[in-house]
Amino acid sequence: MSTTIRVFPVQGEKAQEFIPDLARLRIQVFREFPYLYDGDMAYEQRYLQTYIQSPRSVIVIATDGDRVVGASTAIPMADETDSFQQAFIKAGYDVDKIFYFGESVLLQEYRGQGIGVRFFEERELHAKRVGEFELYTFCAVERPLDHPLRPADYQDLSEFWNHRGFNKKPELYTHYKWKDLNESLETEKKMVYWMKPVKAGMHES
Ligand SMILES: CC(C)(COP(=O)(O)OP(=O)(O)OC[C@H]1O[C@@H](n2cnc3c(N)ncnc32)[C@H](O)[C@@H]1OP(=O)(O)O)[C@@H](O)C(=O)NCCC(=O)NCCS
Repeated sequence: MSTTIRVFPVQGEKAQEFIPDLARLRIQVFREFPYLYDGDMAYEQRYLQTYIQSPRSVIVIATDGDRVVGASTAIPMADETDSFQQAFIKAGYDVDKIFYFGESVLLQEYRGQGIGVRFFEERELHAKRVGEFELYTFCAVERPLDHPLRPADYQDLSEFWNHRGFNKKPELYTHYKWKDLNESLETEKKMVYWMKPVKAGMHES
């Protein structure tokens, strides 16, 4: 990792300062496949309020000099909105024991230097500082293999996530709605959850 790059967690008021950067990065990075998200700042500011309102959330920031080049979020599942909690409640999980990792967004030119690994490490450290959680989770969009906008050289992140200790839980999923770049209206996307036990040896379900 270049010596000008810093990766650090921010919380509360300090995190609020970075919301516009996080929104900008989400819009820019999630335009790429597989998200194809046609985002706007107004929606972003509303969505990110959940993180601002939770005293136990964290945003991990990556900077290169003064420039914010990446960010990653996490929050206790109990502080998430009802719609996020539903899949877990239905499947019989105790949401108080689950720590949810939101997005990781990093500009293309900064990938492959270990910043994504740091995003996971910093969020896990944060979770251990703020509570007694049993599971980490995040979700990822499912796209058909023959999706017309899938780049020929697209490499999905499954291996990267497996290497971070996460396993895909195909039976645990939800749907989010957003407008794809090639669509005129919002449509529902299937989001499948991945999980990792906080303590090695602990089972996921
Ligand atoms: C997800 C994302 C943040 C990963 O970021 P990244 O910085 O490229 O990931 P890393 O460089 O940390 O890790 C990638 C691999 O390179 C390795 N690596 C390469 N150079 C490295 C270095 N100098 N130090 C440590 N690890 C390095 C990592 O170990 C990892 O390999 P592994 O899985 O075999 O362990 C980035 O791909 C991204 O922004 N993607 C688009 C948005 C997205 O899909 N986000 C996820 C869903 S929200």
